[in-house]
Parts: sequence; C-alpha cells; structure tokens
Amino acid sequence: MISLAEFLKEQVSLVDAALDSLTPPESAQPETIHRAMRYSLFAGGKRIRPVLCLQAAEAISTNAPGAMEAACSLEMIHTYSLIHDDLPALDNDDYRRGKLTNHKVFGDAMAILAGDALFTLAIQTLTRISGLDAIRKVALIEELSFASGTVEGMIGGQVTDIEGERQPPTAELLDRIHRAKTGALLRASVRMGAIAAGADTTRLKAMSAYGEHVGLAFQIVDDILDIEESSAALGKTAGKDVAQGKITFPAVYGLEVSRTMAKDQCRMAHEALEIFGDRAVRLHEIADLIVYRKS
Ligand code: IPE
Ligand code: IPE
Ligand code: MG
Ligand code: MG
Ligand code: MG
Repeated sequence: MISLAEFLKEQVSLVDAALDSLTPPESAQPETIHRAMRYSLFAGGKRIRPVLCLQAAEAISTNAPGAMEAACSLEMIHTYSLIHDDLPALDNDDYRRGKLTNHKVFGDAMAILAGDALFTLAIQTLTRISGLDAIRKVALIEELSFASGTVEGMIGGQVTDIEGERQPPTAELLDRIHRAKTGALLRASVRMGAIAAGADTTRLKAMSAYGEHVGLAFQIVDDILDIEESSAALGKTAGKDVAQGKITFPAVYGLEVSRTMAKDQCRMAHEALEIFGDRAVRLHEIADLIVYRKS
C-alpha cells in the first residue's frame, strides 16, 4: 500500500481534474465571476471533504456512481463558505490558502457573487450525475443543502459564531457553533459518499458517527492551530480568534484540555469504523491526520 501522503496527492489531483471539468472556464461570459470562482477553488485547499467523501464510498462499495460529483459539490460549498467567511463583514481576513483572499483580489461584490455561484454550481453538479437514480440524487442534494443550511448547518453555525464574538465563551455555545459551522459539512462528506455507494442503514449510521467525531476534532484542531502556528504555516492569518473574541475550544477549555478532547474525538472516530474492517484503512489514517496536522 502506498503511503498516505502519496495517496492523498493522487486523490487531490483526481478531485482537481473533476473540479476543473465541472466549473465553467475563465473564458465563459461573464469572465470575472468565473475567474473569481476558479481563483479560490484552485488556491490549494487540502481537499479533506472530497477525500472523505470518496473514501467513505470506497469503504462501502467499489461501485459508487456520483461519488466524485458529490466530492466536488462539497468542495464547492466549502470554498464558498471560506470566501464569505473572509469578507470584511465576517472575519475580515486578507489571506487564505496562502494567497490574498477573494475579495482582496476581486472586490467585495464579486466575492459575494463567487460564493453564491459556487453554491448553485454545487447543486447543479448533483443534479447532473449520470448513472444514478433520481431518488439517490435527491438524497445527496438533501444532505448537502441541510449541512449548508441554517438549522444545525454551516450558515447557522456562522451566525452563532458571529453573534458569539466577545460574548462569554460557554461550553454549550461552543458545542453548537462547532457542530454546525464545520461539523455538519464534514459529516455530510462521509454520508454523501456512503449514499452514493448504496450504504444500508447500519453503515450509514456508523459513517455518520465517524463524520461527527472527525468533524468536531477538525474544528478543535483549527482553533488550536490558530493559536500555535504561524500565518505562513497556515496560509491564513494566525491569532485571529483571540483578537476577535471568538468562542473557541482553547477559550473555553484551555489548550491542554482542547488537545485531549481532539484525541478523544479521534478515538471515537476510529471506533465508529469498526464494522468496515480493512475497507476503512484510509479513513482511519485521515482521522489521525486531522488531529495531528499542522495546517
Ligand atoms: C478551514 O477549512 C475552515 C474550517 C472549516 C475550519 P480547511 O482547513 O479544510 O481549509 P482548506 O480547504 O484546506 O483551505
Ligand atoms: C470557518 O471557521 C468555518 C466556515 C464555515 C468557513 P473559521 O472562521 O475558524 O475558519 P478559518 O480559521 O477562518 O479558516
Ligand atoms: Mg469564521
Ligand atoms: Mg475565519
Ligand atoms: Mg479558524
């Protein structure tokens, strides 16, 4: 078996090629919006969500029509959420993925529209999957739109995150923000892969549990890295959470306890994979990567 690093490199290039073919070219009119969408889509994201989606499908079946489209739709939504997260009205960030943020290059109006456009492109991508029955397509669209939405989804989490700035950081608020703003889309990533692969109820439930644990671990680590790493290592401005009075794991529990909590979530993620046996080797490795990553 090739190393995880080699494997991820392969997976990322497959995802990049699919994203490229699914996104209108820069030459399509109006050119500015397509340049803005592509600027952020291909700025060098880790592609964790697409890889989770593809590997969740692999853990269930080698026949998973639409798994790649589902993977790309997740990355489109994720990239849209980052473009909007960085806007002056939200976190006001100048750097993302090691480059200037979308609005710094294209202006606020185009950045807002590029985010909107990636959202609609994600839905369109799922409607156009060939070789998948309409019922499963609708199930994929439901997963993605729910995870991106206002009730326990990404937008809801972003709202609570913004409204929580400079408020007393309680454990209850923290849990609500993190499960929604980041956890929901990570959980949807593995669920969508599982749905494309035709998972039964038991496997879908196990995959959801895995997704929930890696989702929480992911944002705990994002909060820790914001304190411990440099802007250069992260490719985005470090130290912003304290500066903006964000409700984070370190703010509520301190760094040491936060680290332990991330490892606990990681252990529970491993346990959830038990029923998949050897088929889930990469998902095990990715859970560890999420906790031990440095960017
Ligand atoms: C950053 O996500 C934003 C969060 C949800 C914490 P990633 O760390 O996956 O960012 P990219 O896609 O690799 O840039
Ligand atoms: C963002 O959380 C989660 C999203 C829905 C985009 P953060 O605000 O912590 O993400 P970073 O640290 O800017 O990447
Ligand atoms: Mg934010
Ligand atoms: Mg931010
Ligand atoms: Mg952060």
